[in-house]
Amino acid sequence: MKPVTKAIIPAAGMGTRFLPATKSMPKEMLPIIDKPVLQYVIEEAVASGIEDILIITGRGKRAIENHFDYAPELEVFLKEAGKGDLIDQVRGIGDQVRIFYIRQKEQRGLGDAIRIGRRHIGEEPFAVLLGDTIIDPIGDERPGLRQLIDAYEARQASVVAVHRVPREWVQRYGIVDGTPDPDYPDLYRLHQLVEKPAPEAAPSNLAIAGRYIFTPEIFACLDRTREGVGGEIQLTDAMNLLAQQQPMYALAWQARRYDIGNRVEYARCFIDYALRREDTREAVLAHLQARLGEMA
Ligand code: UTP
Repeated sequence: MKPVTKAIIPAAGMGTRFLPATKSMPKEMLPIIDKPVLQYVIEEAVASGIEDILIITGRGKRAIENHFDYAPELEVFLKEAGKGDLIDQVRGIGDQVRIFYIRQKEQRGLGDAIRIGRRHIGEEPFAVLLGDTIIDPIGDERPGLRQLIDAYEARQASVVAVHRVPREWVQRYGIVDGTPDPDYPDLYRLHQLVEKPAPEAAPSNLAIAGRYIFTPEIFACLDRTREGVGGEIQLTDAMNLLAQQQPMYALAWQARRYDIGNRVEYARCFIDYALRREDTREAVLAHLQARLGEMA
């Protein structure tokens, strides 16, 4: 069995739900307190054992490459300003892992973005982490992606992360039609994915959560996938093709998922992290309590 050591992070989308901020700034670089979203995503990958990351970028995404590169002028400035302690922090950001970049020239969907990584991945299983989604594991010490890799190693098959959503929300997501695996907690054998079903027609309330492990056969399935809505190659269509030809699984984890391309989820994520960090918790909590008091 080949281990999962490579990951693709698609980060080339236009981020239209977050305009005007995304006119000149990638949404993957929006900060949660003082760290861009993409840095959290990369830290999750590294903590899960990933050694090689391919980021799919596009026009207007240079800030991503700059963030994970060295910044000699900034380092000189920090040194002269007597803030040498910050140098290691900014220098080490891109040092934990090998990072590569490829541009997606036209935004033809998530499936197309992943297909661009084919040569880089070769004949190996690999992870996909959406660059605009932060996963916060709750009730499990393992990072989100590690939980998926463990399930991949147990079943040697593609695994997609899913989370439970209220029934009335299923219309917003790709939903899993599957049966529980009797020998692996929270794992489902995946029969098919249903894109944005009506609540009464939904096979479950398990929604795709932004992390995947794929066998390399997904690339041939992406080749066979026709353009869907808006001329986009949908990843879920390719996953349905893969599920017809080899076993696939869905892991229903407990983790919190923040799709920061969505304004409300971005705000929730910011508040949750501000309440968790020692240097911000007390002041932010006092502020929220005061605001809530005013509203009561
Ligand atoms: P989204 O569908 O959330 O991104 O894709 P988007 O298209 O930028 O969003 P809106 O609807 O316009 O606001 C999930 C991830 O896939 C990447 C995005 O950058 C995001 O990290 N993506 C999406 C690509 O890399 N290429 C694409 O063509 C589409």
